[in-house]
Amino acid sequence: MAKTQTAKAATLSKAELEEELADIERRALDGLEGVRVPDGLAARMQTFLGRNGEMNRALEHLVDLPKAERAEVGRRANELKAHLETAFAARREAIEAALLEGHLREEALDVTLPGRPVVRGRVHPAHWMIHQITKIWAEMGFQVYLSREVETDEFNFTLLNMPPHHPARGEVDTFYTTDPQVLLRTHTSPGQIHVMRERAPAPIRVVLPGMCYRYEQVTARSEIQFNQMEGLAVGQHITFADLKGTLTAFARRLFGAPVATRFRAAHFPFTEPSAEMDIECFVCGGVGCPVCKGTGWLEVLGCGMVHPTVLVNGGYDPARFSGFAFGMGPERLTMLKHRIEDIRTFWGNDLRFLEQF
Ligand code: PHE
Repeated sequence: MAKTQTAKAATLSKAELEEELADIERRALDGLEGVRVPDGLAARMQTFLGRNGEMNRALEHLVDLPKAERAEVGRRANELKAHLETAFAARREAIEAALLEGHLREEALDVTLPGRPVVRGRVHPAHWMIHQITKIWAEMGFQVYLSREVETDEFNFTLLNMPPHHPARGEVDTFYTTDPQVLLRTHTSPGQIHVMRERAPAPIRVVLPGMCYRYEQVTARSEIQFNQMEGLAVGQHITFADLKGTLTAFARRLFGAPVATRFRAAHFPFTEPSAEMDIECFVCGGVGCPVCKGTGWLEVLGCGMVHPTVLVNGGYDPARFSGFAFGMGPERLTMLKHRIEDIRTFWGNDLRFLEQF
């Protein structure tokens, strides 16, 4: 303080020095409760108790007092110093406690708040069905074989007994690449040739799941992309009875033990004879309803005995080997099982549809 500074050179009486100490005490404690930050408190301590602070400056005057008074005022000064130190320490504790409380309040976690929902992925319904039927075929001794989606004209058609200009080629509209000999497979049947050429002359029991493509109008009943699951069994004594027995056993495992099946004559260039397998409509029990369009039956797959020409193309001698093949549509099976009416929902990427499964 200005007063102390100028007083430094002057000589103070005992009364004046005591008055000065009392003034320091008053000012040091005045408004101390209002100091709320550590820096403010440190500045105040520096001002009054620091090496060049007011307390030490005032005490410089002690030497001017007679010995007896010096001791008395000195004791008084030490008490004051201790008193101020205690008061500042108490204030420091209060400030730190308040800061800590503030931090805790700001950073408080409300453990009763609901958590953020975790979005979980799901298996696509078509793949779920592929998984289901693959399991059934695996239990019946069939291995899974994955074949390519980009095929040559030769494998997709010619080797399957559909030479150029064969009328069956016109029944499917095909996606070609810039090379007219290279296309997106229109069915999984070309995989039959790949497997036979790899395995001949050993017996075969395989299923081949995968995506197929047809350049068609997209409607509720047909898509430009869809899965198929091909099946092929080749051996030395395989008959049409094996085909019927195997596919009936499969249908019972997929749709439930009592389901009735029937085989209707059909035509595919790569099988002879050919058939389509129906199951009894599980909605109406065979009486006839909108789902089975009044017939009482639901078409499930195409099948037949491997055509001798196809066996030859695969490297098997039709005089010694025979076999059966079948092809089904996992999306179609899912539609039957869950009564889905529009095939476009499968690849439309609408989560409201996909999340139901
Ligand atoms: N590839 C035929 C189709 O796409 C299905 C089929 C496969 C038929 C195997 C008979 C044997 O319709």
